[in-house]
Amino acid sequence: MFNVVIIGLGNVGARNSVIKTLPQYKRNHLEAILKFKELNLVKLVDKDPKSFNKINKYKFDKELFTSNLKELRSLKIDLIVISTPTSSHKKIISECMDLKPRLIICEKPLTEDIVDDHSIINMLQNKRIKLIVNYQRRFESNFRQLKKILIRKEINKIVFRYGKGFLNYATHFIDFLISCFGKVKRHKIINFYKNKKDYDIDVCIEFKDNLKVFILSFQNLNYDVFEFEIYDKNSKIEVLNGGVELRYLKKQKSLIYKNYNTLNSSKISMSDYGDGFENLYRRSIDFLENKDTLSEFNSKDQKYFSSLISSILNKK
Ligand SMILES: NC(=O)c1ccc[n+]([C@@H]2O[C@H](COP(=O)([O-])OP(=O)(O)OC[C@H]3O[C@@H](n4cnc5c(N)ncnc54)[C@H](O)[C@@H]3O)[C@@H](O)[C@H]2O)c1
Repeated sequence: MFNVVIIGLGNVGARNSVIKTLPQYKRNHLEAILKFKELNLVKLVDKDPKSFNKINKYKFDKELFTSNLKELRSLKIDLIVISTPTSSHKKIISECMDLKPRLIICEKPLTEDIVDDHSIINMLQNKRIKLIVNYQRRFESNFRQLKKILIRKEINKIVFRYGKGFLNYATHFIDFLISCFGKVKRHKIINFYKNKKDYDIDVCIEFKDNLKVFILSFQNLNYDVFEFEIYDKNSKIEVLNGGVELRYLKKQKSLIYKNYNTLNSSKISMSDYGDGFENLYRRSIDFLENKDTLSEFNSKDQKYFSSLISSILNKK
């Protein structure tokens, strides 16, 4: 069994509810961890004692909860999960270094500043502590299937639309794109707004083989936007609602005009969206059991990602 601590018992740490139509899937760290007998929760940490009451449905012993990180010092810990607000990640990670976990899973984005990102990544590398920043679509089965399809296709263009801020939402998609197509060759800012908490940025990013991805921000909508379309010569894939819905459309002869072709819905067999957190912990256990090196989560690629995001935020 591996000892686990969760720091931050808010929405993503412990409270986000399960997707109603997909009850088998877990959408927060606590729920996902409880699914695995290999993982042993040794402390739940939150600076606000009320957060423990909010999860009293689990009937945990009061001893499990603390609001004081210093209490962790006497424990042997294998895995630390950090799901506190982004502004606190740097300080908390620094405080966790001496606890010598083998793995830290930190919520995205790592910090809001490239200098902080790089210093954390270096510190963890020196201490030989593995870091996963939880862009959980890398772990989702349907995104992994999509990746296999995408790297085989000759894609013409991709259009991604998002709301709720560039750092908060668009970085999820950029992380996924990099996992599919590698490094960005260049990017061009189309529109740039700094809002109170985040950014609304329209940007075109270009990958190898002239693949262009248009990333477009939306504001002032009373609904959530995280959707993209992938166009190739003879078909199009549409991903809607953050990945929950996926449509495949294929070329067919137009029923109205000769020499014209239209797109028509076609069948594609994909996993349901929603197993990202579960797969994250399955791989974490494999790592702790020395069966998986989590090689794609390496300091070089993590620094690259943070430099890329930073250069977009600096309008370069
Ligand atoms: N991967 C995803 O899809 C996803 C989704 C939502 C949020 N997030 C990220 O998760 C993080 C948390 O977001 P949230 O929506 O769960 O926030 P939240 O406000 O719901 O929860 C944060 C919790 O951390 C506690 N906290 C704050 N500072 C602390 C400290 N210094 N020590 C201990 N506890 C502390 C708060 O009391 C609160 O209970 C953010 O970085 C956010 O960007 C990721």
